Amino acid sequence: MTAESHETSEPLVRVENLVKHYSKRKLVGSVEEVRALDGVSFSIFRGTTLAIVGESGSGKSTLAFCLACFEKPTSGNLWFEETSLSGLKEKDRRVIRRQIQLIFQDPANSFNPRWSVLEILTEPLVLQGNLSRDEMHPRAQALLEQVGLSSHLGEKLPSELSGGQRQRLGIARALGLRPKLLILDEALSALDCSVQAQIANLLMELQASLGMTYLFISHDLAMAAHLADEIAVMSRGQIVEQGAPEEILTHPENRITRELLAAVPRLDLSRPPLAES
Ligand SMILES: Nc1ncnc2c1ncn2[C@@H]1O[C@H](COP(=O)(O)OP(=O)(O)OP(=O)(O)O)[C@@H](O)[C@H]1O
Ligand SMILES: [Mg+2]
Repeated sequence: MTAESHETSEPLVRVENLVKHYSKRKLVGSVEEVRALDGVSFSIFRGTTLAIVGESGSGKSTLAFCLACFEKPTSGNLWFEETSLSGLKEKDRRVIRRQIQLIFQDPANSFNPRWSVLEILTEPLVLQGNLSRDEMHPRAQALLEQVGLSSHLGEKLPSELSGGQRQRLGIARALGLRPKLLILDEALSALDCSVQAQIANLLMELQASLGMTYLFISHDLAMAAHLADEIAVMSRGQIVEQGAPEEILTHPENRITRELLAAVPRLDLSRPPLAES
């Protein structure tokens, strides 16, 4: 999407001066305040990807939880379309939660290990309640196909799938609810490089075919640059640098961005090439 089309379209997500503090009890009894988010603002436009990168503990997952309505911000404002997420009633919060789906590093933790792939896919459809029993099976099969999983995997248990297949299943289950926003919190981090690339391609295909909007959270600046229209770099609960991937990769201004860039071996031009063994 170009800068001009951003100006004419409304953002799907708007975050304004978001603050989240946690109280942490120390051993000696005093309470320490952790500023997990310390005044974060950004927008995400429909059909685009914003990547959030940052070191461990910088507040990325806290941001994801606040946006997905699992955590209540200390202060600040969040809008999803025209709806302000602060002060939502539980009934409205449930509607928004369906439209914002979160995908984590290992989706296996959120699958019932005794359920088959098809059962895992039909459960959210049952909860949604607007499909008949007869419609559910074909819908679940269509979801499998949409994420590139063969239909014969339908009877398997999650433990019988590879890491990449499990992550595809996690994406399929999220898509079942027809979300408008997918938040991917380190969703590729546990996978081998080649599998990461395959899932990244799947995400891009889904974005092209369904117009999905993504918040892609990662430590990996190279993957973030590959997938995103815009990158925001976080440190200590704040966005310290934000811009187009090419800008961030070629002219990193903040020390944290330069450190993240140095941690990406394939982009580290300062190192001599590896000698062949
Ligand atoms: N429930 C909680 N109670 C107290 N402190 C918390 C809680 N959740 C997060 N924090 C603190 O808030 C800060 C931000 O944590 P967060 O999990 O958002 O970081 P992150 O960027 O996702 O890190 P990582 O890359 O390791 O996943 C950390 O200092 C963390 O210890
Ligand atoms: Mg995290």
